[in-house]
Amino acid sequence: MSESSSGAYPDSAVTDSHESVESALKLVYGFRSTQVTYVVAKLGLADHLADGPLTATELASRVNVKPENLGRVLRLAAFFGVVAEVPGERFELTSLGRMLGTDAAGSIKATAIMLGEEHYGAWGSLLHSVKTSEPAFEHVYGAPFFDYMAAHPDVQATFDAAMSAGMDVMLESLCDAYDFSGSRLVVDVGGGNGSVAAMILGRHPHLEAVIYDQAQVLAAAESYLTAASVRSRCRLVPGNFFESVPEAGDAYVLSNIIHDWDDERALRILRNCRAAMAPGAAVLLLEAVLPEHGSPSVAAMADVNMMVLLTGRERTEKQYAALLEAAGLRLSKVTPIWARESLIEARPL
Ligand SMILES: C[S@@+](CC[C@H](N)C(=O)[O-])C[C@H]1O[C@@H](n2cnc3c(N)ncnc32)[C@H](O)[C@@H]1O
Repeated sequence: MSESSSGAYPDSAVTDSHESVESALKLVYGFRSTQVTYVVAKLGLADHLADGPLTATELASRVNVKPENLGRVLRLAAFFGVVAEVPGERFELTSLGRMLGTDAAGSIKATAIMLGEEHYGAWGSLLHSVKTSEPAFEHVYGAPFFDYMAAHPDVQATFDAAMSAGMDVMLESLCDAYDFSGSRLVVDVGGGNGSVAAMILGRHPHLEAVIYDQAQVLAAAESYLTAASVRSRCRLVPGNFFESVPEAGDAYVLSNIIHDWDDERALRILRNCRAAMAPGAAVLLLEAVLPEHGSPSVAAMADVNMMVLLTGRERTEKQYAALLEAAGLRLSKVTPIWARESLIEARPL
């Protein structure tokens, strides 16, 4: 296959405009930018470049890789805008590249690592999911997604970090979208590292929270909540939301939980919340709501991701209303809060 410097397309019979061929090829070559960004993130190159430009040889000796090949990858990273080539054969970080720094505001480092590793491997078998309905992840890695992470603490840690990365703006919007003044106890169902509860408690000093998740995840919550100075108002409860959910909460927050599961399993979680709720309590789902057919949406990306990794799906507002009703809940309000995420409020029927 020939690859020209201007974007790599065949010489023959180019009937479309260059622009449309370039766009089409950008789609096809997407995996390359994923892997280049992954290498930069995994090797921590943004941290090494934080104090100024370095040559590939200098960088390679710091991270113990082959200088020549690292230099070649960095030139591609420059093409993607992650670094810039500067005099003296050196590379410097761009504003895009700075976001791969460990401590950068809104860092996407953990996300780049997560997507470049198991997500990448699983998406490589998307066709398998389409042909069989089996999650590609299970086909490739031999275990369901959450079980696999439970057996691989490093993968779990990257996932937990990626889940909360860049969430601050979204969580601020959640606090604006829902009036927590009448609540006392928030139950964060599948609360992960506690970042959602930490934001809510940070804004509302009168609130307490239960972080409910699998035991191996709660260690990350312990340190996150401590660093956020809200640990003393939280109880960390290990458990399985398919069996039960802690009782007596006024607000059951499920952030990116229901979309992980097929209708049957999603219903089990919602029914357990319904059974545990105090009178007058609310269920608050944070999810990407799919528009009806005819409106292309970035939520479709998350939808297919759920197909690849798990048995889940993104849903339309109508689908959420039906699911909630089957669990004895009435969808009362949907508030778009940030990017593709919405707050879906439900009350007992
Ligand atoms: C997509 S993450 C969402 C984490 C967090 N709510 C957030 O938005 O950052 C899904 C969470 O569900 C938890 N989870 C998966 N299966 C579970 C189960 N059977 N019981 C309790 N929690 C579970 C996972 O450990 C993970 O923390």
